[in-house]
Amino acid sequence: MIHATVPIKLKSASSRYDIRVGTGLLATCGDWATSSVPEARRAIIVSNKKVFGLYGDAVQRSLAKAGLSVSTHLIGDGERFKSLKTLEQTLAAFNANGISRTDVVVALGGGVVGDLAGFAAAVHLRGVKFLQMPTTLLAMIDSSVGGKTGVNSQFGKNLIGAFHQPAGVLIDADVLATLPRRELTAGFCEAVKQGAIGGRKLLDQTHRFLQGLDVKNGINELLADELCGLVARQVEFKAKIVAGDERESANNETARSRKILNFGHTFAHALEKATDYRYLRHGEAVGLGILFAAELSKKLEFLSADDVTLLNAVVRCAGRLPALDGIDREKVAAAFSKDKKVIGDSLQWILLRGIGKPVILPGSNIPPRAVKEILGKFIR
Ligand code: NAD
Ligand code: GLY
Repeated sequence: MIHATVPIKLKSASSRYDIRVGTGLLATCGDWATSSVPEARRAIIVSNKKVFGLYGDAVQRSLAKAGLSVSTHLIGDGERFKSLKTLEQTLAAFNANGISRTDVVVALGGGVVGDLAGFAAAVHLRGVKFLQMPTTLLAMIDSSVGGKTGVNSQFGKNLIGAFHQPAGVLIDADVLATLPRRELTAGFCEAVKQGAIGGRKLLDQTHRFLQGLDVKNGINELLADELCGLVARQVEFKAKIVAGDERESANNETARSRKILNFGHTFAHALEKATDYRYLRHGEAVGLGILFAAELSKKLEFLSADDVTLLNAVVRCAGRLPALDGIDREKVAAAFSKDKKVIGDSLQWILLRGIGKPVILPGSNIPPRAVKEILGKFIR
């Protein structure tokens, strides 16, 4: 059942697509795929063994029933497979399976599969169409929407990539039934992030859902309707921001810049880097980053103590976050200066002047003592 269809309208006329949210959608994804890319004759599903083992059959069958000639390419499971090596193997699979300019790549998986498959689609024959079928909560509300694709490399995380918009996104909330709790928590942290920058209404809806989730302990059929509603509102918010600033212009520093989606990410990226990307899920790091940015915003007298308390409460409802004891504080501090959001020579911080009121500030406007003091509170 389709719960909501969220259009994403980009300034480039060719980039307009729908994000379909609902339940029981995998079994009919073939019709959606052929209506999204009518010219396609072949489809290649990019996934990993785990996700394909759970959902691959249903997707493959439906695509074939809709008349597509279907092949599959499975990549390894985990962030380390979002690499140039996997990209090369994926491009080899596209070639071996005769994927032409008019065919379609179908990304079935979490953010790792989506980012990698999307980037492979962006560079294969200088760009073929691709469809996103996100299977983690994080991928549903964030990574599958907005066309950022890429891989990690020796130069850093996500530093090689392209903006390549999908031709459509199909979100089937049923697949969350098999998602491990820790991955759900990571996704919910990104949802809290979008609520914090999006406004009270989105934050309250997220909070209410999470409070219900604690009691019922997991995603089940009872929650599916509410969850679809939340995912749709989250996606709507992201789509609006992306539509206004598709390529994250370096000189857009307004509260509607795509950069605001990096709220919580300065501390998150530093934590991930200092722990070699092995200790925290990305969304968990964002959960901690939200709390760090909130504390810093309060310290600079932008944000009220009540709003900091509220953000702490909502992040807590998202699930348990890993402890930071034992992490090298100096490594985290050093990682700040290497963050992707360094424009020119200055790191940019996304802080809050209130819920729904993000502000982009150059690091040079923030007293290093304030950052150090808060760092000391988070990592003793
Ligand atoms: P992931 O893709 O590694 O998936 C997490 C784990 O869940 C994996 O082990 C996966 O096999 C498993 N899994 C996926 N779906 C499942 C399901 N339905 N049931 C059971 N297991 C399932 O991680 P992620 O959190 O989805 O994505 C993280 C990636 O997303 C990072 O590389 C990050 O950089 C990227 N990202 C990109 C954007 C963007 O705008 N492009 C935004 C945010 C994050
Ligand atoms: N996840 C940040 C963005 O899509 O811009």
